[in-house]
Amino acid sequence: MAENIETLLKTSTVYHPTDQTLDQAYIKDYEAAYNASIADPETFWADVAKELEWFSPWDKVLEWNYPWAKWFLGGTCNISYNCLDRHVNSWRKNKVAVIWVGETGEERIFTYAELARQVNRCANALKSLGLNTGDRVTIYLPKIPEQIVAMLACARIGLIHSVVYSGFSAPALESRIKDAEARLIITADYGYDRGKPINLKTVVDQAVANCPTIETSIVVRREKPGIALTDRELDWEEWLAGHSTQCQAEPLDSETPLYFLYTSGTTGKPKGVVHVHGGYMVGTYITTKYVFDLKDEDVYFCVADPGWVTGHSYIVYGPLLNGATILTAEGKPDYPDPGRWWHLIEKYGVSIFYTTPTAIRLLMKYGEDWPGRYDLSTLRVLGSVGEPINPEAWEWFHRVTGGDKPIMDTWWQTETGAILVTPLPCVPLKPGSATRPFLGIEADVVDKAGNSIGTGGGFAVIKKPWPSMMRTIHNDPERYLGYWNNIPGCYTAGDVCHKDEDGYFWFMGRADDVVKVAGNRIGTAEVESALVSHESVVEAAVIGKPHQTAGEMIKAFVILKQGERDTPDLITALKTHVQTELGKIAVPREIEVVTALPKTRSGKIMRRVLKAKELGQDPGDISTLEE
Ligand code: WTA
Repeated sequence: MAENIETLLKTSTVYHPTDQTLDQAYIKDYEAAYNASIADPETFWADVAKELEWFSPWDKVLEWNYPWAKWFLGGTCNISYNCLDRHVNSWRKNKVAVIWVGETGEERIFTYAELARQVNRCANALKSLGLNTGDRVTIYLPKIPEQIVAMLACARIGLIHSVVYSGFSAPALESRIKDAEARLIITADYGYDRGKPINLKTVVDQAVANCPTIETSIVVRREKPGIALTDRELDWEEWLAGHSTQCQAEPLDSETPLYFLYTSGTTGKPKGVVHVHGGYMVGTYITTKYVFDLKDEDVYFCVADPGWVTGHSYIVYGPLLNGATILTAEGKPDYPDPGRWWHLIEKYGVSIFYTTPTAIRLLMKYGEDWPGRYDLSTLRVLGSVGEPINPEAWEWFHRVTGGDKPIMDTWWQTETGAILVTPLPCVPLKPGSATRPFLGIEADVVDKAGNSIGTGGGFAVIKKPWPSMMRTIHNDPERYLGYWNNIPGCYTAGDVCHKDEDGYFWFMGRADDVVKVAGNRIGTAEVESALVSHESVVEAAVIGKPHQTAGEMIKAFVILKQGERDTPDLITALKTHVQTELGKIAVPREIEVVTALPKTRSGKIMRRVLKAKELGQDPGDISTLEE
């Protein structure tokens, strides 16, 4: 299998629907490899797992007790060992693992050996706090290397990390700490946003004040002189000082939880998606390797933040499992100027560049002149993630990077752990399509009853378990079951998808009340609860609406309390309130005051009707509408 794919990866083609000269040989060979992988997925995944190191082998590849899966049963492993020791014990010891560039231009470089030393020291420091296997650690850090070190250190000794994106506000952080019952939080004094310091420590102080499970806070102090700390707070450097740079990775059962990552669903409460060491390691390893055709000589640049799943799987775990050289940069694509990323690509000789449609559309607005100023000839494979990429953005990205690099439009979710539908660089591409399921993944597009639609539109589903799938939702197994009970017999992703005559998948957006704003996943119910918690609001309904750059934007409809007036000041106050409750990413761009909301006779708000009206579309079946 590996040989077939590796031979195929040697040639890449970019296929445009108008180009009828496509050499069908590639697709046939790829199809043969894919068909073999899904004919016997257990053998396929076991062969992949064998490329990694296990402390003791598994007895059974899969136990499938619908819808509960266990992979590599009886095997012991540690993802941190595979990210570090496997390379430190090889010629990669002095290979660069991470190049980090700060917003202010600062640069820090870690070889595999150095990264391992830092992680070991941190793991020993964690042990010194008396934390035990299975304890939870919340990591609320900006995009700095300590984030990666802390994640790997937790993994090394069997602690479960819960990374919270540093743009979330105090109440959002608090609810995540509470749900995880974290004993420790690792944070920093400041993050930066376009050069402006953002005080993270005050957010943590507010959140932790209501979280009795937190015993200690560790603070990375970036600014000098360092901010003052209390008795329960330790400075990161002082905390690490004196601890040994040697720490054996704990042999863990392959089903040991590695992390919780909170993501938005259709209710106001975020879900703590649980991933485990063994299967997640196998899934992120092989997808990074094949989707990006990752080689030792590559410099791999993924623009995500480890606060989201893309950062977990494709900045930290997947690339490190492959022994890659990773570039990670703090800050926005257009700060200090729109040449920021192109400059980094030139400076570090980036060969693999994984970004988002929103970032591409933003850079498009600044024009081709910006990428044109830089030498981008080192680029070899490109990637896109998080939301559908429109063909215009695809074409632009393709053109400004030389016109001959394949773009991997990778579709997946926090819950899936790893990329599931994607091209490989050898698969012919169509701009805007994520093409086909990855090896070993049986994905399909079905109707509500679960019948395969063949060609046309329907719901994206996965028909068989896969190693990197979430194992449950922390504290809420019922919600986990929901993914598998929606359409009988399969995992429902919540995405609407179109399948074309070549079997290519075209993801169209969410089928539920989840909005993707600039690729960030936000539940409309979360924004609604934030709005109604404001004293002037009685009721709120939130929808996603197309937006030129961000893909989607949030629009809120609110009913005000009697006597409240619809003034620009009130609208601003409501926006500020949502920012305080949830964070900047969840603030509605538009808020409209209304006197009534469309509801079903049983009182449920019909967001679908609001959305159709907003977009000037037919609202469809409104027989259940109240009046
Ligand atoms: C959407 C992000 C179209 C999709 C990795 C999915 C995409 C949700 C793509 C998961 C893509 C992600 N094309 N849509 N290539 N990638 N999505 O959990 O709606 O933040 O269900 O994971 O993002 O978002 P999440």
